[in-house]
Amino acid sequence: MSTAMVASRALQERLDSARKLTDYVFSLLKPEALYSRPIPERHRLIFYLGHLEAFDWNLIARKTLDVPSFHPTFDKLFEFGIDPPVGQVASDEPSDWPIVDEVRGYNQRVRRALDQLIDQAPEEIIHVALEHRLMHAETLAYLLHNLPYDQKVRKGTPVPFSVKLLSNPMIEIAPGTATLGQKPGAFGWDNEFTEHQVDVPAFRVSKHKVTNGQYLDFVRAGGASPPHFWAERKSPHSTRWFYHGMFSPVPLPLNAPASVTHAEATAYARAAGKSLPTEPQFHRAAYTSPASFASEETSKPHERPFPWGHAEPNAKRGNFDFHQWDPLDVDAHPAGDSAWGVSQLVGNGWEWTATKFGPFPGFEPRPFYPGYSQNFFDEEHYVMKGGSPVTAACMLRRSFRNWFRPNYPYVYASFRLVED
Ligand SMILES: [Fe+2]
Repeated sequence: MSTAMVASRALQERLDSARKLTDYVFSLLKPEALYSRPIPERHRLIFYLGHLEAFDWNLIARKTLDVPSFHPTFDKLFEFGIDPPVGQVASDEPSDWPIVDEVRGYNQRVRRALDQLIDQAPEEIIHVALEHRLMHAETLAYLLHNLPYDQKVRKGTPVPFSVKLLSNPMIEIAPGTATLGQKPGAFGWDNEFTEHQVDVPAFRVSKHKVTNGQYLDFVRAGGASPPHFWAERKSPHSTRWFYHGMFSPVPLPLNAPASVTHAEATAYARAAGKSLPTEPQFHRAAYTSPASFASEETSKPHERPFPWGHAEPNAKRGNFDFHQWDPLDVDAHPAGDSAWGVSQLVGNGWEWTATKFGPFPGFEPRPFYPGYSQNFFDEEHYVMKGGSPVTAACMLRRSFRNWFRPNYPYVYASFRLVED
């Protein structure tokens, strides 16, 4: 077998398993739920059922290989998602969408056709389709999280949480450089290029993500309203807090990370006299090492591909890649700590940064997907780093950047504090 054939077979296998994953996420829905809109700023779920296949089809078959369409209406209907400002909602009705069987029929035909074409498409294009699908596996999880429990089929077991409150010390990070972005020639989305270095002065960073327990103190002190993922049960004598988990509510896990918006995280940091890390500070804490580690190195800055070192991501290193639906305690997976001893920089919740999403020097949009990042360079989105319980392993790479609006509450987004 030629190298090209081996590569395309490997990609086909990855595409197959990504399809299995998204099929699995859809299998958590009761049939009637497909026409629900669990997040007002997003499409009804039926859109995503068609979108995954329409995206692959439009990208690989129509735009790249110039194959004629067999269903132009669906190609267009399912082409793009929406991201309006919070509060601006779509007004379509369930009856505006096609019936499920028609969409499933379209999907099957797309998959069969693409499987015949995959060898002819450039590897990068298949990679884009693959990561696009895996990103949607994550955003589908957010959507499903917001569905009423009776519209979902429970899978997976609830996770254990500790109750003894953890301390959250600040760790000193020495001044130095951080490398942002992806190496030329390696796969990455347009916003990951070009690779460059940034000088970062010394700062201190919290060992752990800010916990629900810490955030609860802030809420009780009147500093903020409870975050989106919390539910309050009031009795005449007390208030009990619950975390609205994927499949059931649980008493608020005090040592799990607080999932909050950027605005909530920023307010908390300000009240604490601290701030959110910038994107370069996140990189310093996650991927660089104290000077004492540099003996293995030359004079070049020592940076690791993952906080824990060079090993590929696995279930020992963090809560990611769909092993759990919900966040775990902030001290789970110490084997994932960075060289500075900072915990959970990758996994268990994306981390908000203070950095607005924008282009790196030398940014160029890709001809096959010009709006992927550029449409969001609007000063209204913030960079998130790391990864959540439902971020696929391939997107835990150092250069990967995620971004959301500062008041979008539905993401598994955590935060930690820094001070100069
Ligand atoms: Fe999409």
